[in-house]
Amino acid sequence: MAGPSRVRRTGVVDSPPVSAVPIEHVDPLRAYGESIAGCSRCRLAKGRTQVVFGAGNPHADLLFVGEAPGFHEDKQGVPFVGQAGKLLEGLLNGVGLRREDVFIANVLKCRPPGNRDPQPDEIEACEPHLFRQIELIEPRVVATLGNFATKLLSGRPEGITRVHGREQRLTIAGRNVLLYPLYHPAAALYTPAMLKVLESDFARLPGLLEGTPPVAAVVPPVEAAPAPPAEQLGLF
Ligand code: URA
Repeated sequence: MAGPSRVRRTGVVDSPPVSAVPIEHVDPLRAYGESIAGCSRCRLAKGRTQVVFGAGNPHADLLFVGEAPGFHEDKQGVPFVGQAGKLLEGLLNGVGLRREDVFIANVLKCRPPGNRDPQPDEIEACEPHLFRQIELIEPRVVATLGNFATKLLSGRPEGITRVHGREQRLTIAGRNVLLYPLYHPAAALYTPAMLKVLESDFARLPGLLEGTPPVAAVVPPVEAAPAPPAEQLGLF
């Protein structure tokens, strides 16, 4: 009687059982960041030290979107590490959050020369990276810092002085998110009245994250301060 065939077909390579193959779990956000480290979609590639992709919890409920890396961010490869970053961290701590709890990114991933304003074609070239970040992080709340992030993600022309502290439900990159515009910390550094407003807007973040936002406080708009020379403009 013929038993099981012991004849091995030539040309068939024995492979180990699937469970013995080590599987590396690559975080898709990190993989995406690595894939754009050599990005050359716009002119800023020429002058940058490195792409500043963003930092923090890749599964954060809360995503902050600033404007663009500055001098220190460009050197260190991490967003918001300068003076504005220290203020942002203090504001986060004030509402019981740490940098590691949230994800922080920018509209532009590369430093504009001399910290000048982002140009429309640079924003257009860079926005797929931000939209992909939103798809991968899946935040519930997206807090935009300043005019550039607010106008890009709201798709509306109203400036930050009018819309700060007013959350709006939107679909961004196919995700249902709560967009929450805030003054840019760099602007608040130079304007105490604006800092007060930023603090009071920040105080609502835990409630927004809980999904039980209290009624928005009515805060009178603050006059834009004269722009400081070496800081980023277009923040109001
Ligand atoms: N300002 C920004 O908008 N982003 C940074 O990363 C630093 C300062």
